[in-house]
Amino acid sequence: MRWVGIVGLQNIVAATLFMATFTPAVSAENPTVSSNIRWAYPVLKEKTPYPKLEPTVEYTVKGSIRVLTGDQLNLMDDPVDWTPSEHPVPPKIVAHDDRDRKLEACGACHGMKGQGGIDVPDIGGLPANYIAEQLHEFAKGRRRSSDPDRDVSGRMAAFASKLSESEIRDAARYFSSVTRSPLPVRVIEAERVPATRANHDWLELVPGGVSEPIGRRVIEVAEDFNQMWIGDPNSGIEAYVPTGAIARGKALVHHGANPCITCHGPTLRGVGKVPPLAGRAPYSLARAIWDIKSGARNGAAVSLMKKPASELTADQIVDVVAYLASLTP
Ligand code: HEC
Ligand code: HEC
Repeated sequence: MRWVGIVGLQNIVAATLFMATFTPAVSAENPTVSSNIRWAYPVLKEKTPYPKLEPTVEYTVKGSIRVLTGDQLNLMDDPVDWTPSEHPVPPKIVAHDDRDRKLEACGACHGMKGQGGIDVPDIGGLPANYIAEQLHEFAKGRRRSSDPDRDVSGRMAAFASKLSESEIRDAARYFSSVTRSPLPVRVIEAERVPATRANHDWLELVPGGVSEPIGRRVIEVAEDFNQMWIGDPNSGIEAYVPTGAIARGKALVHHGANPCITCHGPTLRGVGKVPPLAGRAPYSLARAIWDIKSGARNGAAVSLMKKPASELTADQIVDVVAYLASLTP
């Protein structure tokens, strides 16, 4: 998860600088987010400081011997490696910020085990050549967001464009060697869901326990926001989906117009360089599909995925991601 210490004020400034200096090498057509997929792109346009932890509360994660106070965590620079015995030794770029080059450690956003979060895709255990290729695509400006107001892709691109080839290779090798363990997703079919609102690039519950009809949306929230934020590799994601979505999604994934299993494998855990889909957070999956459909995400390897993505409607994306997220990674 993005690290609170670095994403304090300095970091907002740093991020703004990154965006101002980064110009994509390729500018394709203008991709858009249509209203029926808006749910997948939460964004709070007014910039507010990132959340701070309660200074005196003590935090730890399951399986870790470390206990740190909110104050210590708020002031910390590098991401905390809570469970170093559960993954190989990370290279510098994954574990440490490089302030001189205004580079944040990969582990700060993706987690030290590459577990991802509610606003960041999981990358632990993805194929090394897929990871390296995505970094190149970001750097070349071929992987963008369909929503310019929610420009996390631009931010990722700014990082990627500053990496040396050896840093890309080291980071890709490291994350691919980590045992695949995206944050656990609990998919819940429901007619009504807790009311939510955007905070930065993710959804949070509206205080007061109000509920609203789900409609044709997926609602994704952290089970315990602070745990996810401090980089707990086991903190969960709750995904509410419309009733019947999982079964409809299953039919589309296995027997639809472009069966996903043909390329992503019979258990949807990936084949060769084609990435896994099983057990991944629904918002990242939905945005990946829509960004390919809208033309925001391009590149050589995307060409195979172009037709399957284009032929899915926003409604079908709801069902497909509900099913995929419900599978064991
Ligand atoms: C400030 C937070 C942040 C940092 C730091 C960061 N990333 Fe990312 N990364 C993101 C976000 C957000 C996305 C999703 C962007 C999108 O989908 O367009 C992403 C996407 C990716 C993807 C594509 C995943 C997929 O499933 O296709 C890869 C690979 C990746 N990052 C690797 C890295 C590596 C390696 C580093 C360190 C060198 C790194 N990232 C640093 C936030 C970050
Ligand atoms: C003809 C082969 C093919 C089929 C069929 C296919 N895909 Fe893909 N898909 C790919 C390839 C190749 C990529 C990697 C693209 C890249 O490297 O950027 C991909 C990427 C993706 C991604 C992005 C993953 C990430 O980590 O960002 C998602 C999500 C996805 N596919 C979902 C689906 C779904 C859902 C279906 C079925 C409706 C499907 N795919 C069918 C080939 C296919």
